[in-house]
Amino acid sequence: MRTHGPVLRRGKLERLRGPPVSLPAEDPSGRWRDLIPQAKEVLRLNDMGGWTRASPTLYPHQWSWDSAFIAIGLAHLDVRRAARELETLFAGQWRDGKVPHIVFNPYAPPGSYFPGPDHWSTIAEAPDAPPRPVRTSGLCQPPVHAIAARRILEISRQGDGDEAADVQRFLDTMYPKLLAWHRYLATSRDPEESGLITIFHPWESGTDNSPRWDAALDAIRIGEVPHYERKDLQHVEDVSERPTNLEYDRYLWLVELVKQARYDEAVIYRTHPFLVKDVLASAILVAANEALLEIADAVNAPDCERDEISAWIKRGQAGLDECWDEELGLCLDHDLLHDEPMRVRTVAGFAPLVAGNIVPERLRSLLDTLASRDFAGNPGLHWRLPPSTSPLEPRFHPRSYWRGPVWPVINWLMWWSLERAGEHKHAARMRGEALDQLANGGLAEYFEPRTGEPLGSGDQSWTAAVALDWLAEDP
Ligand code: SER
Repeated sequence: MRTHGPVLRRGKLERLRGPPVSLPAEDPSGRWRDLIPQAKEVLRLNDMGGWTRASPTLYPHQWSWDSAFIAIGLAHLDVRRAARELETLFAGQWRDGKVPHIVFNPYAPPGSYFPGPDHWSTIAEAPDAPPRPVRTSGLCQPPVHAIAARRILEISRQGDGDEAADVQRFLDTMYPKLLAWHRYLATSRDPEESGLITIFHPWESGTDNSPRWDAALDAIRIGEVPHYERKDLQHVEDVSERPTNLEYDRYLWLVELVKQARYDEAVIYRTHPFLVKDVLASAILVAANEALLEIADAVNAPDCERDEISAWIKRGQAGLDECWDEELGLCLDHDLLHDEPMRVRTVAGFAPLVAGNIVPERLRSLLDTLASRDFAGNPGLHWRLPPSTSPLEPRFHPRSYWRGPVWPVINWLMWWSLERAGEHKHAARMRGEALDQLANGGLAEYFEPRTGEPLGSGDQSWTAAVALDWLAEDP
C-alpha cells in the first residue's frame, strides 16, 4: 500500500515566495496550470528546513543528485533556499572530495530506510568520512551540483542586489568544494585518465537496475550477505516497480565489499568485482565542468584552476568519443574488468548530447536514435518521451524502475541538452510532452511508458523541481 503522509519532522519552506514562477505564454489551453501549485506543495511537503527529502516515505533522506535537481527547482522560488540545499548536502562531503550519495536525516525514525546509516558505518570504517553528527553513505552519484549552482547564479542575476550578494558569498564557499568534488572524480575515479568516471556500484549511476549493468552483475559471485530486510517494497503498490531481490542481494554484496575495503579507493580498484566506466555520469561531469568554469569566473578563481577544469572537459569529451557505437547510434558504458563495451540500448547512450559541444554529425545520429522505435518514436508509447531502456531490448520491463519507465528528471536532462545543442524545436516538443505527462499523471517518480501510469513514489521532489524549471519564464 502506498503511503504518502509525512512520517518525519516537517520542515518549513516558509519563504516560498509568490510567483517568480508564472504560467508561460505557450500554454494557451492552460493544461499545465495546476502544476505550479502542485510542484510548490510537493517541495513544501518534503522540505526539512534547509534540505529536502527525495520523497515523503520511500526516500526520507537527502540524496545527492536529487538535491542538485531540487536546487534547480527551488532557485525559482528562493535562491537562498536553493543555495542552502547544496550547502547542506556538501556538509556531508568527505575529506577526499567525494560527495556521498545519501546524507542521512538525523530525525528519521531508525529503520525507516534500508540500508540506513548504521549499515554503512562510514564513520567507523572510513578515515575520509565527515565527522559526526553528519552520517552518510559511502558511495556517490552523478555530479549535477555545479550545474545547479550555476542555475542559482543565473537566476540571482535577475533578482535584487542583496540576493545577488548572498549568492556571491554562497559561490565563494561552494566553488572550492565543487572543485574538490570534480578533482576526486577526475583522479580517484579515473586513475587511467580516460576522461570517464569509474563506478563501484549500480547505485552510483543513479540508474540502479538498468540493464546497463546486467552483464557485469551476472559475472559476480555473491558471497555471504548478512540478513537484511528491504523497506522500499512497503512504499509501492506493485513490487515489480522496484528492483528484484536478486538485484538487492548483489547491491548489498557490493556494499559489503566496499565496507571490507574500508572505502579505500585504491583497494577497491584492485579487488572489486564491479568496475565500470559510466558514460552518463561522465557526460554530466563534462557539463558540470563547463558550469564550474563559469562559477570560477564569478569567484575570480586562479588561472591554474581554470586550466585544470578545461583539461577535464577535453579529456571527458575524448573519453566519450571512444565509447561511441556507430551501429547503435549510442554511447556505451565500458566494463573495465572484462575490457568490453556494455551493448545495451538505454537513455545513458545519449551521453554525448548531455556532455555538450557535440559535433553536428553525432548530434544528427543521436536525434535519429531518439526519434527511432528504440526510444521516443516507438509506436507503443503513451507520450513521445524516451523510455529509460529501449522497448526493443530483451530485458525491457515497462514497470521496473530503470528497466523501461520514463523518468521526468531524464526528460529534463535531455531537454536541457537539446536546448544547449541549439535544437530548440526538439527541446520544445520534449518539454511539452513531459509537462503533459505530469499534468495527467502527477508528480511521480517515474511512469509506465505505454500507459502513462505514474509509478514508484508519488510527490517526488526532483519531479516537482524539474516541472518548476520547465514552467519558469526566467532562464
Ligand atoms: N536508489 C536507491 C534506492 O532505491 C539507493 O540510492 O534506495
